[in-house]
Amino acid sequence: MMTDKNMKNKIIIVTGATRGIGRAIAERLVSQGVVVVGTGTRDTEKRMRGEAGLEGVVWKDLDVGDATSMNNFIEELPLLGPIQGLVNNAGINRIKPISEVSEEDFAEVLSVNLRAPYLLCQTIGKGMAERGGGSIVNIASIWSVVSKPGRTLYTTAKSGLAGLTRALAVELGPSGVLVNTLSPGFTLTDLTKQSLTQSEMDQLCEQIPLRKMADPDDIARTVAFLVGPENRYITGQNLVVDGGFTIV
Ligand code: NAI
Repeated sequence: MMTDKNMKNKIIIVTGATRGIGRAIAERLVSQGVVVVGTGTRDTEKRMRGEAGLEGVVWKDLDVGDATSMNNFIEELPLLGPIQGLVNNAGINRIKPISEVSEEDFAEVLSVNLRAPYLLCQTIGKGMAERGGGSIVNIASIWSVVSKPGRTLYTTAKSGLAGLTRALAVELGPSGVLVNTLSPGFTLTDLTKQSLTQSEMDQLCEQIPLRKMADPDDIARTVAFLVGPENRYITGQNLVVDGGFTIV
């Protein structure tokens, strides 16, 4: 892949960059010359050192569900230099009927999927606005636009994230900061492969117009577009990258 000179040496934070979609985002941005600050929950630098395709990533420990960890990370931010991009990717799902959802479940899902992105947008967005530019991408889900039983927590949190995107895009637009949501559909990560049987995956694919799940890089290349110089005028949107799943 060609190194994009407009992306070279830009500093972009990607939360939850050690595996799955976040890892694919980090790999694609690294290949474009970006200085990626990637976060993982623990021993991240040690665990990720030498991983192919992630050379040069600056690894930081961050548990986005933990208030102390969030505070420490936010305090360290000024040391990283001017941050041009933020990808709020870290997220969790808890699938259960609302009758079984506890206050702890609610607090956990909302804290990881919504509180943490909110606080990072608040701090990093401020710096971007002061410098007159930057781009934020919040990773939500198709369950932010449609839903099904067992998804009250996830749909609540991811819809809130899409709401944060819209509100912040309005507030930071005059300062030249773009804010968008990217909502992936079913994505073939290692975790998906472990948690679904081949026949379950085949059944799912029957419901997707493109008849296949997304490769993590399908999501990553869309993120790279949204945070990169080709995106000049898209802001406040919830871009659904799902092979057409939500249109049928
Ligand atoms: P994953 O579970 O494989 O990876 C999630 C990442 O978030 C990991 O790097 C993990 O360490 C990090 N993370 C989780 N809890 C964290 C915490 N408390 N603090 C810091 N980091 C934490 O998930 P995947 O599938 O790669 O998902 C990435 C994002 O995409 C999530 O926001 C998820 O909700 C969203 N998504 C995923 C879809 C899929 O089919 N895989 C579909 C739609 C949305």
